[in-house]
Amino acid sequence: MIYSEEVLGKALNLGRKYIHEGAVADYIPELAKVDANKLAISTIEDGNIYSVGDSKVRYSIQSIVKVILYALAMENYKVSELKKYVGVRPSAKPFNSVIELELSEKKIPVNPFINAGAIIIVAILYNVYREKTFDVILEKASQFLGEDVDYSREIAQSEKESSFTNRTLIYLMLAKGILPSDTKVEEVLDTYFKACSILVNTENLAHMSYVISNNGLDIEGKKVISPNEARVLRSLMATCGTYDYSGDFAIRVGLPAKSGVGGGIVTASNNKTGLAVYAPRLDTHGNSYSGVRMLEYLSQELDLSIY
Ligand code: DON
Repeated sequence: MIYSEEVLGKALNLGRKYIHEGAVADYIPELAKVDANKLAISTIEDGNIYSVGDSKVRYSIQSIVKVILYALAMENYKVSELKKYVGVRPSAKPFNSVIELELSEKKIPVNPFINAGAIIIVAILYNVYREKTFDVILEKASQFLGEDVDYSREIAQSEKESSFTNRTLIYLMLAKGILPSDTKVEEVLDTYFKACSILVNTENLAHMSYVISNNGLDIEGKKVISPNEARVLRSLMATCGTYDYSGDFAIRVGLPAKSGVGGGIVTASNNKTGLAVYAPRLDTHGNSYSGVRMLEYLSQELDLSIY
């Protein structure tokens, strides 16, 4: 067994030491209402879930959903086709940067995990699924997360009311002709806000971690994505998953990962296990502060780094 109760407990204790570091995301007012003292680690090994801390507490998935959105896009298009609209290059600026979009090659978002990239992926999905788009996303998310999930109406509404930067990004992409002028802006944004507001707990995220680490099969052996899609997701998580912190994260933790401003972090590995953490206070890059430290500890103790 890789993740003993003892090592998970020690990692949680370490996370508790850093629990007051960082700050909860408040640019979406509803996110500022969370209990910032929650902390959790969940793992899946040999088909069983092991958790310590507040692993049943629900919070919004936020940017972690961008992995699921790109998986859905890959079900419809090859990566080479998607690359006409969104790159696969690491970002050097914050996840909602306007200047990075302005300066990027061909004016396309550098990768699908920054906001501009995920919004364009939703626009692509909207062209395929139209008004069913969010239902399709919710269904795929449920497969990744190991149970039927729903979204928070309050958080989605709060995202909509504070969506100034995301609106700037989508209008810039319209202005540059990256998105066609008949793009259903409001529908695309609403779908993106709802997707970010999907409610998860840390056990759900461990399930998602397991699926991506297990070449697309869930704990019951059901196919969620193909092995190649899982490989692409792991690659993008390694290079782009924690934004402009991805290099530091590679050194500290050494696992592909995706963070969200809700405080969750999903990792991926090649060892057919699941590992996810939660702590709402974030570092300046939008990654869970204690979450990164707990993963760093586990990586060092258990030799998890892939590098
Ligand atoms: O659009 C936003 O800003 C949020 N719904 C998602 C951002 C996010 O989670 C960035 N991740 N760390």
